[in-house]
Amino acid sequence: MMLEVRSLTKRFGGVVAVDSVNFSVDSGEIMGLIGPNGAGKTTLFNVVAGALAPDSGEVLFEGNSIAGMSSAAICRRGLARTFQIPQVFTSMTVLETIATGSLALTRAVADALHSAVAIAQRVGLAGRESVLASSLTTAEKKRLELARALATHPRMILLDEVLAGLNASEIADMLDLIRSLRDEGITVLFVEHNMEAVTGVCDRILVLDSGRRIALGRADEVMANPDVIRAYLGDVMVEAPDA
Ligand SMILES: Nc1ncnc2c1ncn2[C@@H]1O[C@H](COP(=O)(O)OP(=O)(O)OP(=O)(O)O)[C@@H](O)[C@H]1O
Ligand SMILES: [Mg+2]
Repeated sequence: MMLEVRSLTKRFGGVVAVDSVNFSVDSGEIMGLIGPNGAGKTTLFNVVAGALAPDSGEVLFEGNSIAGMSSAAICRRGLARTFQIPQVFTSMTVLETIATGSLALTRAVADALHSAVAIAQRVGLAGRESVLASSLTTAEKKRLELARALATHPRMILLDEVLAGLNASEIADMLDLIRSLRDEGITVLFVEHNMEAVTGVCDRILVLDSGRRIALGRADEVMANPDVIRAYLGDVMVEAPDA
């Protein structure tokens, strides 16, 4: 087992953003994480990746407890994440931005820049290495965000809405890239609102609503689950005018 989350809870004041959530991800799996806006998906990522400490519960990565460890320490163990809003430093080139990933692990700047060249190629940014990261298109920024995470040589990666803002062909390319990561042996946990993409690429899907796990299983099982349908239709019904 790659990742095991047990009874994980994270509160912000009175809001229980992640509420006693249990799940595990097998080695080599692509697992989807879906749920309406505010369901707790990013908060769950933040706790698993060490950006936030949990209020209670346990996170095991390759069998070892990582709950409450720093994000740098978790990254060094082989668990990387991307950010929903790409973190781009305006003064850095594409290559330098990718290298910041390696520099989380090593102080060897020349080595970091050298391996960044291969990673730029890997994610389809070859030829763009010297461009300022801030001048990239949305699709390129999402690839850069993935490249920065890959530069830490993860065995597992948490992807937070890497398809947001992409057009259909850019989405298809990104999904191919995600499948190729899995084929290389990287386990993937994948937050996404694009249902077609999620059901097409994921082995299993975890559904959160108001911080709670409401479903976990294969795409067809999850999409037929009445609690899942209610969670999504509920959004629409809240917005509908009174009859
Ligand atoms: N830093 C924070 N401080 C206070 N409340 C927060 C904070 N981060 C998230 N929340 C709240 O926690 C809940 C879960 O938010 P979260 O961002 O994890 O949802 P999400 O599933 O990622 O949503 P989206 O699909 O919109 O990205 C929401 O009610 C949100 O307002
Ligand atoms: Mg989010």
